[in-house]
Amino acid sequence: MKKAIIALFALVAFSGAAFAADSYEYKGGAMGKVAFPHKAHMKLGCAKCHEGAPKKIEMNKAVGHDTMCKKCHVEMKKGPQGCKDCHKK
Ligand code: HEC
Ligand code: HEC
Ligand code: HEC
Repeated sequence: MKKAIIALFALVAFSGAAFAADSYEYKGGAMGKVAFPHKAHMKLGCAKCHEGAPKKIEMNKAVGHDTMCKKCHVEMKKGPQGCKDCHKK
């Protein structure tokens, strides 16, 4: 039984990682597209962005600026922080 549970967790963890793209791109509106190199961020730890199990995150301006992307770059003083560093036309 214990083995079966461990196997199930391993399967869930593996299928989860297998379904994450290396990178994503968002429309970003009039400012231009925003690239998100997901793979390059994984070393920061999944929990930095995923609450609970890694799953789909709905991107929007509030997430991109205030609760995730820009917020972290500003706090860490790393990664793109200026409008045109993230948004490309
Ligand atoms: C810097 C933030 C961040 C970190 C760190 C991060 N992720 Fe993600 N992850 C995202 C975002 C944002 C998406 C949503 C991409 C999209 O669909 O627009 C995502 C998507 C995913 C998906 C795809 C979900 C789906 O159904 O489309 C998986 C699986 C995933 N991440 C796993 C992980 C794992 C495992 C880790 C840790 C090793 C991790 N992520 C670390 C931000 C992050
Ligand atoms: C938990 C902190 C954190 C979050 C959240 C985060 N980033 Fe980053 N990001 C970083 C760090 C750290 C770097 C690496 C900077 C360096 O090495 O100088 C980085 C680098 C980048 C880079 C440059 C990669 C390169 O190859 O130079 C891009 C583009 C980027 N992030 C976009 C995003 C986007 C878009 C989001 C939101 C979906 C996001 N980041 C969320 C911490 C974060
Ligand atoms: C760390 C990266 C980052 C930085 C820096 C950044 N943005 Fe964004 N911005 C995003 C992300 C991610 C989104 C969500 C994109 C989406 O949902 O298509 C977004 C969304 C937007 C949108 C809304 C697009 C729409 O129609 O939904 C506007 C407008 C915008 N940003 C303008 C700016 C301006 C102006 C600045 C500079 C003051 C800026 N951004 C800095 C990442 C960033």
